[in-house]
Amino acid sequence: MINKLRTAWRHFKHMYRLPDRFERFELIVNTAHMSPVDRHVTMHLATSHHAVYAISYAHWRTKRINKILELYGPEWFLGKRVLELGSGLSDIGAFFADLGASVLCLEGRNDTAQIARLKHRNVCNFNVEVFDLEEDFTTFGKFDMIIHFGLLYHIPDVEKHLARCFSMANEVVLETVVCDSSDPMRIELVQERKDVIEEAMHGTGSRPSAAFVERIAKENGFRPQMVTTSDLNVGNQFVYDWISRDDGDLGGWRKRRFWKISAS
Ligand SMILES: C[S@@+](CC[C@H](N)C(=O)[O-])C[C@H]1O[C@@H](n2cnc3c(N)ncnc32)[C@H](O)[C@@H]1O
Repeated sequence: MINKLRTAWRHFKHMYRLPDRFERFELIVNTAHMSPVDRHVTMHLATSHHAVYAISYAHWRTKRINKILELYGPEWFLGKRVLELGSGLSDIGAFFADLGASVLCLEGRNDTAQIARLKHRNVCNFNVEVFDLEEDFTTFGKFDMIIHFGLLYHIPDVEKHLARCFSMANEVVLETVVCDSSDPMRIELVQERKDVIEEAMHGTGSRPSAAFVERIAKENGFRPQMVTTSDLNVGNQFVYDWISRDDGDLGGWRKRRFWKISAS
């Protein structure tokens, strides 16, 4: 009984103090020596409830950036041309621009692209453009690498979309939610919410099997190397080292696969 009361009191105190703490955070942001643009971006990030602004997304980005660094090394990026697709806040692209690459980020949602531009406005050789990646994006030219994270499952015509990627770069680093199947022809279309800014812009997403992605890579003359190390996992939210049961499970957002895909 005493323990239950203690727990209830802690819970109440936490709920009660949260707005007070947030007001102090706002006060600090509003009195700190910050540029007006940084202040705006900070307040926007702190007061928006979309997942793309959540700290779990920041952890997820860190893991995936670390994996790219492990696979290629930081020096690889100096002077390279990198294209990031479905870039959200474009932090990943901005990171590689900071390492010396020339980076173009394509993001479909205007508001997200706008905040990304403001956030990274001082990064050199870095641009964010608004573009619908269900359309033909090959007109953006050739790149040394495409970073393709968290996007494929928001695109219904995966085959055509991936063929475009493989025609533009010799290295594609790709991660996606997959359907748990070893069938190289298996892809499920799913309804997503257009009003959720992390999901498919036009409301239809897909869950290709990992074998489907690898088949398309091979058909386009590429070698897919799957990375299934646990250091990519973000708790139980985004998981890369799960064991396949081949049961067609669509995996929520949890069951993901990561590849380094290189031209053969
Ligand atoms: C799950 S978030 C991933 C963000 C970032 N790539 C990452 O991994 O942290 C998916 C992003 O893809 C964008 N997106 C969805 N459908 C798109 C489309 N048809 N064209 C361009 N971007 C799209 C969303 O607006 C969102 O920013």
